[in-house]
Amino acid sequence: MRTAIFPGSFDPITNGHLDIIRRASLLFDRLLVAVLVHPSKPGCLPFADRADMIRRVTADLPNVTVEQFTGLLADYATSQGARVIIRGLRSAADFAYEAPMAWLNGGLGKGLETLFMLTSPQYAFISSSGVREIAALGGDISRLAPQALENQIYAACNRTE
Ligand code: PNS
Repeated sequence: MRTAIFPGSFDPITNGHLDIIRRASLLFDRLLVAVLVHPSKPGCLPFADRADMIRRVTADLPNVTVEQFTGLLADYATSQGARVIIRGLRSAADFAYEAPMAWLNGGLGKGLETLFMLTSPQYAFISSSGVREIAALGGDISRLAPQALENQIYAACNRTE
């Protein structure tokens, strides 16, 4: 059983993430989507909601599971039997951010490989931060994030505190 892990903040999941999840799920027996819980960085969507939202939009993918994790990704991946970390790349800027992370994770002695998947070009401009900002200002996110999640994203990101 080959398990890969696709970690991220997913605040919120975007159409770009979903594209990577669909394509990676075809390459492995099991794909574990892992939502980082970072208590000092609460972000926009509550952590539990992020995982539930990903479950809803991946319900048609039988080999995809979604969990939350805290702490080191390398430890969590190993505990789940994953030797491959999937990360999406949109640009050279992403590569500059991702390469040191892959080297660091690879150097932790757990035998982890990071596999980069190029985003499909129609999603290359999408980011969670962009979705959050547009949603907070009441703009149209219908081409950026899964439509089934739109109302939840607007409700979470548009709240005034
Ligand atoms: O969606 P993001 O925010 O780009 O994902 C970043 C993530 C969650 C993959 C990364 O921050 C992470 O793995 N955090 C867990 C802590 C860890 O293992 N850090 C060492 C890797 S440099």
